[in-house]
Amino acid sequence: MSLIGKKLGALQPTDLSADLPLPLYLQLAKHLRAQITSGKLGANESLPAERELAEFLNVSRVTVRKALGVLAKEGLLSNRQGSGWFTNSSPYVEQRLSTLTSFTEDMQSRGLNAGVSWLDRTVSAATPEETLLLNLRPGERVSRLNRLRLAGDKPLCIELSVLPVKYLPDPFAVQGSLYGHLRELGAAPFRALQRLSAVSLIADLAGKLDLPEGAPALYIERRTFLKDGAPLEFVSSHYRGDAYDFVVELALA
Ligand code: GLP
Repeated sequence: MSLIGKKLGALQPTDLSADLPLPLYLQLAKHLRAQITSGKLGANESLPAERELAEFLNVSRVTVRKALGVLAKEGLLSNRQGSGWFTNSSPYVEQRLSTLTSFTEDMQSRGLNAGVSWLDRTVSAATPEETLLLNLRPGERVSRLNRLRLAGDKPLCIELSVLPVKYLPDPFAVQGSLYGHLRELGAAPFRALQRLSAVSLIADLAGKLDLPEGAPALYIERRTFLKDGAPLEFVSSHYRGDAYDFVVELALA
């Protein structure tokens, strides 16, 4: 196999076909995306030059450039002046949708270190919306943790967690994992409902995640419950769209 084909995960000229309904540049982008998101093409790896790629794949340079441009927009590749195209260094993380795990556990299972940069922690009266979501009495107080969560030293998501003070009396007592701390307090998360949507980031959030304003992100809301069904936390998170992937397992009913 040629060196280029090997580097690109056994990509062969015959893998791209003008007969398919998907334009050639999107076929190429799809193939390269799969290499990057599966980790086969690691972080900070250089790609073959545009000209070499075009010759090897028997397509025009315009096609190659358009494909690389698509992945650059998604944040997976960057073009370094004079040195060509490189994969970005943001870690790519998959989360299973069907298991209730914490951020710390998600990172650890991938051999990454879960870091945190605290944005804010407070205790105050719940808003009317939080009162409803957490099934509180009017005027009940909540602890709020606002964290920039890191994989190694790379920002991955911004997460605002709101918990009734009866389960988390002191947000400053949380050192590492919130779920670890809750388990120690006897308030172990048992079940959660989660909803995901795609958003583009406002300038403030984008800046904290090292992304340009308007970059794509996954917005996730999670409501977690104790074993007895009482609501334990309401969390809203913005995950970098280029670094996080959610995997769901489907079984026959
Ligand atoms: C994930 C969930 C949050 C949860 C957090 C706990 O990020 N989306 O709902 O609060 O994990 O993580 P940790 O225990 O690492 O603080």
